[in-house]
Amino acid sequence: MTVHFIGAGPGAPDLITVRGLNLIKSCPVCLFAGSLVPEEVVAAAPADAEVIDTAPLHLDEIIAKIDEAHKEGRDVARVHSGDPSIYGAIAEQIRRLEDLDIPYDVTPGVPSFTAAAAALGRELTLPDISQTIILTRTDGKASSMPEGEDLVSLAKARATLAIHLSVRNLKKVVEELSPAYGDDCPVVVIYRASWPDQQIIEGTLADIRNKVRDEKITRTALILVGHVLGGADFTDSRLYAKDHKHVLRPR
Ligand SMILES: C[S@@+](CC[C@H](N)C(=O)[O-])C[C@H]1O[C@@H](n2cnc3c(N)ncnc32)[C@H](O)[C@@H]1O
Repeated sequence: MTVHFIGAGPGAPDLITVRGLNLIKSCPVCLFAGSLVPEEVVAAAPADAEVIDTAPLHLDEIIAKIDEAHKEGRDVARVHSGDPSIYGAIAEQIRRLEDLDIPYDVTPGVPSFTAAAAALGRELTLPDISQTIILTRTDGKASSMPEGEDLVSLAKARATLAIHLSVRNLKKVVEELSPAYGDDCPVVVIYRASWPDQQIIEGTLADIRNKVRDEKITRTALILVGHVLGGADFTDSRLYAKDHKHVLRPR
């Protein structure tokens, strides 16, 4: 018996991996994070599978379901949104499984920040502009940020930022980033990237708050910030330069 943690991807049902979907199809128990995992993905579970939305459950109840399946020798598909390693809350489940000697593995998924970049048709790293992406969030009701990971500190790198779980904190995001990035720095807020109701709001640090307020977006949105979002004024990468020789193109 194994608990398979599976990344469902950002929302579009065909953005789950083949491995993840095959595991869901084969497991007699499917526990899924109902707020962001698309129904079509869970519908792939066997007709007689026990399928449970864990959104209303607390950790002890989730572990109790898994332990029950373990005692009956039934494999579990534990499905999380995006990639489970990013704000997935799998670490605390894994810690309990290790205490109970329950085997598990992890299948990655497409994270929302790459789905957002794909929706924009943009690259998040550009030569001479930014070669670093910081995945972060701001303080929320349930979690505070560790010392040194506040936006003012992170802004010093002027890297591309993918800010999760923070669309309600846009005022603070704008205030803390503007001194380092400049008011004219491009910002894109992507609501439900890859879902049928996906929305893309493009602006700058100066005007993004008003634009997002007008659209009434308060959840499931990613905030991308950085000069990489600014357009065509960047240097070509050396990888495909005519005069750049490397092991696969020695001439
Ligand atoms: C609990 S975190 C889960 C992140 C997920 N594990 C991932 O890999 O993207 C939820 C936050 O991720 C972002 N998010 C998740 N799915 C999204 C999507 N389809 N479009 C935009 N943002 C999304 C939002 O910032 C949302 O508040």
